[in-house]
Amino acid sequence: MDFARQVKDSVDIVSVVGRYVRLKKAAASRWTGLCPFHQEKTPSFSVNSALNIYKCFGCGVAGDVIKFVQEIERLTFWEALKLLAEQHGIPLPTRSNEADAEAKVRGALYRMHEIAVEMYRNHLRSPQGQVARQYLSRRGLTPDLADTFQLGYSDPSGQMLLRRIEQEGFTHEQMRESSLFREREGGGFYDAFRGRLMFPIHNESGKVIGFGGRALGDEDQPKYLNSRDSMLYNKSHVLYNMHRAKEAIRRNGRAVLVEGYMDVIGVYSAGVQEVVASCGTALVNTQVRSIKRHTDSVVLNFDPDTAGVRATTERIPMLLAEHLRVRIVDLEDGLDPDEYVKKYGADAYQDKVARAVSYFPWLADQARRKFGSSAEGRMEAVKSLLPALQDIPDSAERLAVADELADLVGLTPEERVRTGFRKAAQDRKSAVPHAAAQNQLPAREKILLQALLRSDEAREQVLPRLQESYIAGFRSKTIFEILRRMVETEAVVDFAGLEGRLDNPQKTLLHELVTADELEEGENGVTHLDRALACLAQMEAAQSAGSDNDLKSQIRAAERSGDFARALELMQKLSQRSISRQDRS
Ligand code: UTP
Ligand code: MN
Repeated sequence: MDFARQVKDSVDIVSVVGRYVRLKKAAASRWTGLCPFHQEKTPSFSVNSALNIYKCFGCGVAGDVIKFVQEIERLTFWEALKLLAEQHGIPLPTRSNEADAEAKVRGALYRMHEIAVEMYRNHLRSPQGQVARQYLSRRGLTPDLADTFQLGYSDPSGQMLLRRIEQEGFTHEQMRESSLFREREGGGFYDAFRGRLMFPIHNESGKVIGFGGRALGDEDQPKYLNSRDSMLYNKSHVLYNMHRAKEAIRRNGRAVLVEGYMDVIGVYSAGVQEVVASCGTALVNTQVRSIKRHTDSVVLNFDPDTAGVRATTERIPMLLAEHLRVRIVDLEDGLDPDEYVKKYGADAYQDKVARAVSYFPWLADQARRKFGSSAEGRMEAVKSLLPALQDIPDSAERLAVADELADLVGLTPEERVRTGFRKAAQDRKSAVPHAAAQNQLPAREKILLQALLRSDEAREQVLPRLQESYIAGFRSKTIFEILRRMVETEAVVDFAGLEGRLDNPQKTLLHELVTADELEEGENGVTHLDRALACLAQMEAAQSAGSDNDLKSQIRAAERSGDFARALELMQKLSQRSISRQDRS
């Protein structure tokens, strides 16, 4: 655990989170951005660089830098720790820490993929790779570009990678999980990729986790063979080229989304580096989110064939639902992006991307072409546009787009009324309510804990008066108890120390409590001590009111049973109490 502390202390949480989320500075030690763990339009995700934690007020996730890396990269605790340590040049402690079995397999799989990339690349450069090099040059792909994308060639024998991996002593279990091999019925393995041009697929932090392999000849089927999902690789979480593209995506404020590996390389070579593709699957939500972490704007350049157009229109609702601005590139002559770049050059392609039209005009254009410009055609066109319109989450924007679409389709004012287009846009069924409602944290616990953590005075004056019964009903009872124990037994009481003594659910609760409506020392002329004392006074008052009520009911019971002496005694006690309260205040 000490090593975790060491890593946490030496990495800057803002810059780690900043690699995945665009953060803006909101206060001295607070940064905010859109939450990468749920869908949102306004930022409720915040990173506190003083406390070294993050927290989302929308979906409630919270934690430290290790937890963040764990969640965003889908790693175990140790893997996240190791990744952070490696990235920051912190030497790892002895290997025994790697006991985690899953992490061990994963480590082996990473290593196998590294070996595979190197072997395929070497094979491409070797005499046996000539056929693949010729293929590349036929397709106008330079050796430099092949290097950049770490392209390789897998040997047709099906033995090349296998022999090396066996030599290295990987287990059969690991080989099975890697999806780099096939197993013969009679036993034994052979390479899954044979005689193919190899495209390594990386995760966002740049590690190879899978491959796409293109056949060199038309007779070889399928055209592309892709890695099966494995412990490393999940098709629907990965976008091809994201690790290279993300810098450019942020810099240029847009991501260009294409359909294929070759398209990515072609577009990249044309100087549009912010390009990504899904790997042999229809684009899914998780991929859209990974784009969304870097930009609000997507330019789609799918193939111009009918499947491509269908893919474009089908995927757009999802993009709009994630509040992305969508524009479409239309390339003439039925060319895909790669072919277009080859034929017309980089400048022409860049120009196409720069002039990509917003999705709705594009859609209106499609509808006009399909339904024609007769009165009925216009009505049909408008009807076909309604579902897309209703995908826009924001109502003002929806109405504005409705007007724009009506213009584009050429609806007359009378037709606008008759179609009820605008009204339908307005009456959109209410959106799905926010999945995770914000956790309601009791104000008193928040204020008190923040005060106790930040002010020595508050700890000295308030903790001794904080009775067990006051905190008995607290959600954060354990946190208060541990804090009290720390104060009693330790010289230094700080946030990290407290955090280190809590189990995970308590830790999350602590993070929620201290990041909720952070109150500054002296804000509005109120100090942490003032706030803590006010909480204390309230609790004391509630306590004595509670026992007053208690006394009163005892008095009534005594009266009912005819024990007037007892009733009198109790009444005296009650009045003494209220006198002593008046004295105090
Ligand atoms: P395309 O058929 O458009 O291929 O498939 P491409 O990318 O333009 O490649 P070239 O130019 O013909 O060499 C687009 C993407 O669909 C997936 C791959 O990710 C491919 O890049 N795909 C296609 C497969 O996964 N398997 C296939 O058999 C075909
Ligand atoms: Mn192509």
